[in-house]
Parts: sequence; C-alpha cells; structure tokens
Amino acid sequence: MHFKNFDIATFLQGSWQKKPLHIKNPWAAWANPLVPDELAGLACEEGVESRLVTQSDATWQLEHGPLAEERFDSLGRSNWTLLVQAVDQQVPAVSALIEPFRFIPNWRIDDVMVSFAADQGGVGPHFDQYDVFLIQGAGKRRWQVGGHCDENSALLPHDDLRLLANFEAEETFICEPGDILYIPPGVSHDGIAMGDDCMTYSIGFRAPSRSELIGDWCDDLLADMQEQEDDRYGDPDLAIQENPGEISINAVDRLHAMITEKMGDRDNFARWFGQYNSTPKYPQIDWQPEEPIEMEELREQLQQGVPLSRNPASRFSFIRKDQQLLLFIDGQCIECAGDAMSIAETLCAQTPVTIDEALIHSDGVMDLILALYNRGCLAFEPED
Ligand code: SIN
Ligand code: CO
Repeated sequence: MHFKNFDIATFLQGSWQKKPLHIKNPWAAWANPLVPDELAGLACEEGVESRLVTQSDATWQLEHGPLAEERFDSLGRSNWTLLVQAVDQQVPAVSALIEPFRFIPNWRIDDVMVSFAADQGGVGPHFDQYDVFLIQGAGKRRWQVGGHCDENSALLPHDDLRLLANFEAEETFICEPGDILYIPPGVSHDGIAMGDDCMTYSIGFRAPSRSELIGDWCDDLLADMQEQEDDRYGDPDLAIQENPGEISINAVDRLHAMITEKMGDRDNFARWFGQYNSTPKYPQIDWQPEEPIEMEELREQLQQGVPLSRNPASRFSFIRKDQQLLLFIDGQCIECAGDAMSIAETLCAQTPVTIDEALIHSDGVMDLILALYNRGCLAFEPED
C-alpha cells in the first residue's frame, strides 16, 4: 500500500530526522481501524502496556494500566488521555497501518501506540527521543510544534511525566482523520484534542543509543569470555625502562589492542546486533501455536494458496553475509542459503505472502517455514 501525493524520496531528503511535516490525508480511503471501546478494553488487560494521563488546572497525573473498568466511569468529559502501547501486536488492522511506512527499514520500527483523548485532552508539551508519525484516526487534534530540545531543556517538576517547563509553539497544525504529522526526534510538541473522540495512532521508531549498544554488546561479549581467565596481558619482550613508574606507550598500545581487537570484530557485532535488535518487545508473551503444525498439513495449506502472515510481534530483518543471509527473528539468527535465502528475503519484505508452488518442493524453504510457524513467527492469515 502506498500513499497518494506523497513522494518518499522527497520526504527522506527534506523531512526525515530534520523537520516536522503535516501530510494531508494521503490514504486511498482512510478508515479508523479501532473503536474507543476496544482501546479501553485493551487498557484493562493484564500484559498490555497502558497509561492514563489526566489534567486538572495545572496538575498532571499519570496512572499505569491495567486499569479497572470502573476507572472510566469516574473520568470527566474532558482533559484526559488514554494511551496503549504496541496495539499493532493485538489488532491486525492496526498493524496494517505500518505497511505504507515500510520505506523505513523494519529494524527501525518499534510499535503503534494508540491514544484516545476526551475534549481538550493531551499529554502535555514534551519531546521524544524517536521519530514518530502521528496519524489522526478520528476526531480532531491541534498540534503545536516547537523547537529542538535535549537533556538540558528545563522540565516541570514531576515524578512520572517529562513535561517541558518552557514550551514555545512555532507552528500549529490541525489534524483531521487520515492526516499525518511527522515529528523528528527531539522536536517539542503538544497535541490537544478538539472535541470528543480524538484518536491518534503513533507509528514509533527506535534508534539505539551509543551507551546501550556498548553496554549490551559488552555484556554479551563478557558472557562468552567467562571461561577465558588465561586470555590476559603478556610481555615476553619486556624491555628495561628508565622509570619503573611509567606505563609505557608500548604497554598501553598492547592493553588497548586487547579491547579493540575484540570490539572491532565486525562480523561478530553484526550477528549480535541482528539478534539483539530482533528481541521481542514483550518476551514474556508466548506466541507458539497450541498444536504444532505437521509438515504435511503445512504443505497442503501452502499448495492451496493460503497466505502466510508475519506475527506483528516478531521483528523480521536480515544481514547479507557472503553468499548467505543471516535471518533475525525474535532474538534468533538463522543462516539461510539457496531457496531458503530467497524466501527469507520475501518474508522480510512483505506480509501476507503466498508461497510459490516451486518453493513448496524445496526442503530448505519448507524446513524454514515449519520452524517459523511453530515458533509463532508466522501464521496463516486470520479470516476476517
Ligand atoms: C498522543 O497520542 O496523545 C501523544 C503522542 C505524542 O505526543 O507523542
Ligand atoms: Co510525543
């Protein structure tokens, strides 16, 4: 699915990570994929990440879900917002909203957060660390957008909410159903519902910080090095030095190389990163089918042309390596060659997918699909 009147190359060159952009309804036919009651239902579920932000006068309050059903009865008619994270993992029609944004690589996409706001509701002026596309689902919202912020920007004193103390709007956009507002990381914004039934879908991205990359990769390296007590500094060529207090240039070079040799291993890093980045957002959720499918039944379904869909909770990505491809799904690395390599590329590029008859006869392809199906990363399209 592609947007109308939206040029991807122009967007990437002029706006992505640079400046906000208001895109007037670019959908072929916009239809709000979720009703507020369904969203409220999700916010009451255990294991679904949700928040309720309420405001009275200048006081902001944050409550974390799961919420009790009765909580909704005590909310007034205005000034509150319900936010539910990763709704794409729960509702296929919400997951489908991501498809036109696939010009951004899979590994950069995080989730779809959905908010419902009563009249005047909002989460306050703030900035996010990540890019976001804010799709107006229903109702209207006034977005005020300000300048760039960073860790030095003054915040209001609050234990749970990071609201800007001195927000100054530079631009105002009114979003109507189907409109999209792109906000780059660090750009301050404040969205206020204009009237009831304001629903906003945030396509959120991820960008690892240098500190988490170093920290998490080192944890992984260390876990592998635990038994390597003998891998240690040595100086069989020790030379007489003038001052015993000096740590010689030679020693520092050698010590430093002990680290950089390990950390400079690009292949090892690439494999680690693919696995790390594909780790599920909620690893406690088990998506395996209740009954594993048998090869025969799988082949039969595929031969009948039943399409396979990716589990929206599974992150699919790959890295090319020599004549092979490393396929990363749910924290696992699967080495694929030949036909399995081509099906792995197809699965990463599109969902749902109908498997070609010729590939159904390839053992490599079928073994891969069977394994992914039984792990819960692939499933036959749910019938609507
Ligand atoms: C919202 O949907 O109300 C908040 C989204 C955001 O500002 O990031
Ligand atoms: Co935001």
